[in-house]
Amino acid sequence: MRPTRSPVPATALLLLAVALALAATAAARHFYTTTTTTRVPAPAERADEEVRRMYEAWKSKHGRGGSSNDDCDMAPGDDEQEEDRRLRLEVFRDNLRYIDKHNAEADAGLHTFRLGLTPFADLTLDEYRGRVLGFRARARRSGARYGHGHGYRARPRGGDLLPDAIDWRQLGAVTEVKDQQQCGGCWAFSAVAAIEGINAIATGNLVSLSEQEIIDCDAQDSGCDGGQMENAFRFVIGNGGIDTEADYPFIGTDGTCDASKENNEKVATIDGLVEVASNNETALQEAVAIQPVSVAIDASGRAFQHYSSGIFNGPCGTSLDHGVTAVGYGSESGKDYWIVKNSWSASWGEAGYIRMRRNVPRPTGKCGIAMDASYPVKDTYHDPGTGTGTATATAAAMDVIKMVLA
Ligand SMILES: *[C@@H]1O[C@H](CO)[C@@H](O)[C@H](O)[C@H]1NC(C)=O
Repeated sequence: MRPTRSPVPATALLLLAVALALAATAAARHFYTTTTTTRVPAPAERADEEVRRMYEAWKSKHGRGGSSNDDCDMAPGDDEQEEDRRLRLEVFRDNLRYIDKHNAEADAGLHTFRLGLTPFADLTLDEYRGRVLGFRARARRSGARYGHGHGYRARPRGGDLLPDAIDWRQLGAVTEVKDQQQCGGCWAFSAVAAIEGINAIATGNLVSLSEQEIIDCDAQDSGCDGGQMENAFRFVIGNGGIDTEADYPFIGTDGTCDASKENNEKVATIDGLVEVASNNETALQEAVAIQPVSVAIDASGRAFQHYSSGIFNGPCGTSLDHGVTAVGYGSESGKDYWIVKNSWSASWGEAGYIRMRRNVPRPTGKCGIAMDASYPVKDTYHDPGTGTGTATATAAAMDVIKMVLA
């Protein structure tokens, strides 16, 4: 007869299970502690020679001449130039140190994005803020409409119908990344990208349009000193259209309104604008599923200045100071993101774009992206040239939606 099984192994197993559970808890606590509070050791300081070499390489890539005092009235003397060069190198060194530290942390899995030597690598945070931002925040009513243009729109309703991902670049509705240079005209670039988008979707023609016309001719805004995308839409609606980039090119500074182009070259038209409901990323998703959308964000953070790739989840507030354009959204490794077109050249970010974390716990969205979004609408009755009516336009819209939902 077989002896009854000794109770010892069972007890041993139980003890083992308890021990494992405790170990797992401890390990989890340890893991939790290390990922939230332990600092990744700062990477070794780069040798002076290496920093200088990187600085020279960066300067030739980004076309910085000897002195960065380009906007100074008086030519600086030799001593001043030397002093300025020394200062720039130190700012670059400090930024590089910050970038290296962040990337070491990213390598350790603490960040979902990386930093790099963007066109702003020799600027202090204050200089960066003063140079490239230019969105004028305001009090807003959300959900307002202006003008008409409701004829041509077919919105999928309800969360279930929304596509999981969309990228208007792949659907031929986004032009090349532009460069606002040292002009605070981000708002005009944001608005134009949204107009280019709806124009391409409605007409099938992707045409690069003129920021300079809006900067020069829209009296509601302050050109390179800042403005608002909705005012830019209103200007284009009121003007009856907007000229092409090629015919009215960007000059990097405020110019005089070219009335003949303003009056005679109305290549693309819009008929109205819609404000997306504020502080609701689902509402923004519904809008971006239909077309590129102008969004305002807080881009004043140091991580934003040096962003180079990945899903941006860095520190930022909600003091809206920059206008950009949401041209799609998606998810990667369980993290949702917005695809955002910027106007800082293709040398910043992911070839000029930034992916920003989507569906964050705060209703404002990351960096306030869901606070003040708007888009232009187009009524194809007013489309010059084609003569197509709403039936055709709606059919085209349905094709786009089918493509999106496929
Ligand atoms: C957010 O927007 C969605 C889609 O338009 C809507 O169904 C939902 O009720 C909104 N949520 C809030 C809190 O307003």
